[in-house]
Amino acid sequence: MIPLLMAALVVRECARCHPAEAKPHPATSMARAMQHPADSAILNEHPVLTAQKGKYSYRIEKNLYTVTNGSASLTFPISWSFGLGDAGQTYVFEKDGIPYESRVSFFRAIDGLDWTLGASNSPPANLLEAAGRQMGTQDAAQCFGCHSTKTQAALEPGVQCERCHGSTEEHLATLKPMKKLRAADAEEISNFCGQCHRTWADVAGKGILGVNNVRFQPYRLTNSKCFDVDDRRISCLGCHNPHQELDRNDAHYDAKCQACHAGGKPAAKVCKVSKSNCVSCHMPKIEIPGSHYRFTDHQIRIARANDRYPN
Ligand code: HEC
Ligand code: HEC
Ligand code: HEC
Ligand code: HEC
Ligand code: HEC
Ligand code: HEC
Ligand code: HEC
Repeated sequence: MIPLLMAALVVRECARCHPAEAKPHPATSMARAMQHPADSAILNEHPVLTAQKGKYSYRIEKNLYTVTNGSASLTFPISWSFGLGDAGQTYVFEKDGIPYESRVSFFRAIDGLDWTLGASNSPPANLLEAAGRQMGTQDAAQCFGCHSTKTQAALEPGVQCERCHGSTEEHLATLKPMKKLRAADAEEISNFCGQCHRTWADVAGKGILGVNNVRFQPYRLTNSKCFDVDDRRISCLGCHNPHQELDRNDAHYDAKCQACHAGGKPAAKVCKVSKSNCVSCHMPKIEIPGSHYRFTDHQIRIARANDRYPN
């Protein structure tokens, strides 16, 4: 529990001088992207979770993860929960000091367990594989690198202030300014957020095609006709404040679109169909099979029924 306490204390310190950023941030999904199982609302609200997948049965009771094949069973304490369940909550446990990713995850849309995304591609050869996928050293470092924050003192779960702004110690001691992110242009911001949300180059380089790339916003947005590397109105920060929770109200984004599409100068075209809820038609929601979640396509466009998904 010590790391959590540290994060809370640091944020309280920041809130003295930066309340607009530090007060809402702890409640965001990013700040909670990784949690101790005791802090997982999903595990607290579901004291017992079970699933039968083929010949294996799964059971999560409090923070104990068990898989059984009828004759034998394995039980591990959950070390960490990843994600908040919209596109999944996955559990990481350890065996002999090696981290494993649980083969089943919790999904809000079904209010229960199903295969972790990708896990159904490789059938388990034994009970341990049925429990989870052994993570390589690099794989584990990346996984924790995107879902947690390493400070000089400890590993803090979640994406905390220091993960984006750099070390706070000198700033707190001398008020030496921290990393300024405000000056960045749209492309630099895409690459900054893309450290975790994946950059255009990451996705193009790996050749990830089809609906699987819809969750990589920097890639999708760059491919949209609206995108201009120099124009901050179309950067991630034009629509999102990383210190606040995602706004799920379509109307919230109208002013962001109309910053360009309201007939001003230089004029981008004006819609003949509607003056409100722009994103409901132009940023369609698309489900990645197996994710139980419809991601928002950031390739802003005229989307017609029966259109093929544009890569
Ligand atoms: C005692 C007041 C105080 C506390 C506590 C404090 N800051 Fe600051 N912070 C400032 C001041 C003043 C500036 C402006 C410094 C400058 O630009 O010369 C600043 C600047 C910043 C900036 C740069 C903003 C910009 O415009 O680029 C960031 C980021 C930041 N602080 C983050 C933090 C974080 C994170 C914490 C908590 C660990 C924190 N601050 C705690 C007073 C404080
Ligand atoms: C250190 C990695 C990291 C960086 C850098 C990062 N994110 Fe995230 N972000 C995440 C993770 C992990 C999640 C998933 C959180 C969850 O649901 O568990 C997320 C979720 C989000 C969400 C969705 C929140 C929700 O309610 O579902 C938004 C919006 C978002 N990030 C925007 C941004 C923006 C904008 C930037 C750049 C300023 C950024 N992120 C930078 C890791 C990161
Ligand atoms: C390159 C950075 C990166 C790596 C590596 C990474 N993630 Fe994520 N993860 C994200 C971001 C960003 C999101 C939010 C957007 C999305 O759902 O694609 C996310 C979303 C998730 C979600 C869904 C969250 C929700 O609230 O629905 C889960 C579960 C998850 N990650 C687990 C893991 C696990 C477990 C690993 C390691 C085996 C891992 N991730 C590796 C960046 C990363
Ligand atoms: C996911 C990355 C991310 C995290 C986490 C994050 N910030 Fe920021 N922060 C940014 C970005 C990007 C900007 C620039 C915003 C802009 O230009 O609109 C920023 C700007 C700021 C500023 C300057 C605001 C201004 O108007 O000049 C302060 C102060 C700040 N953040 C404090 C914090 C504190 C305190 C925390 C932790 C509670 C935190 N940030 C967590 C990305 C982040
Ligand atoms: C023109 C506005 C706009 C811009 C620019 C934008 N987003 Fe979004 N974003 C949205 C909307 C709208 C949603 C969906 C909100 C909802 O669920 O109702 C969203 C949702 C998200 C989510 C949640 C996952 C999902 O698919 O629902 C993440 C993560 C995210 N954006 C990250 C980013 C990143 C990173 C960037 C920069 C590359 C970015 N966004 C740029 C409008 C924008
Ligand atoms: C930075 C300015 C800017 C922002 C912000 C912006 N756009 Fe655009 N958008 C453009 C430009 C420039 C074009 C291409 C020329 C034109 O249509 O005027 C374009 C094109 C479009 C098109 C036509 C695409 C096609 O396939 O022909 C649609 C639809 C659109 N934008 C909708 C939106 C919506 C909805 C939003 C908010 C979610 C938005 N735009 C935000 C500048 C912007
Ligand atoms: C009900 C769905 C819907 C909503 C809501 C909507 N649009 Fe459209 N929009 C369309 C359709 C359909 C077209 C294509 C019309 C056509 O056939 O020329 C279009 C076309 C456009 C174009 C291209 C115009 C051209 O002349 O090429 C832009 C830009 C655009 N919309 C922006 C917006 C913005 C900004 C908003 C919010 C203020 C918005 N739209 C709201 C459905 C919608």
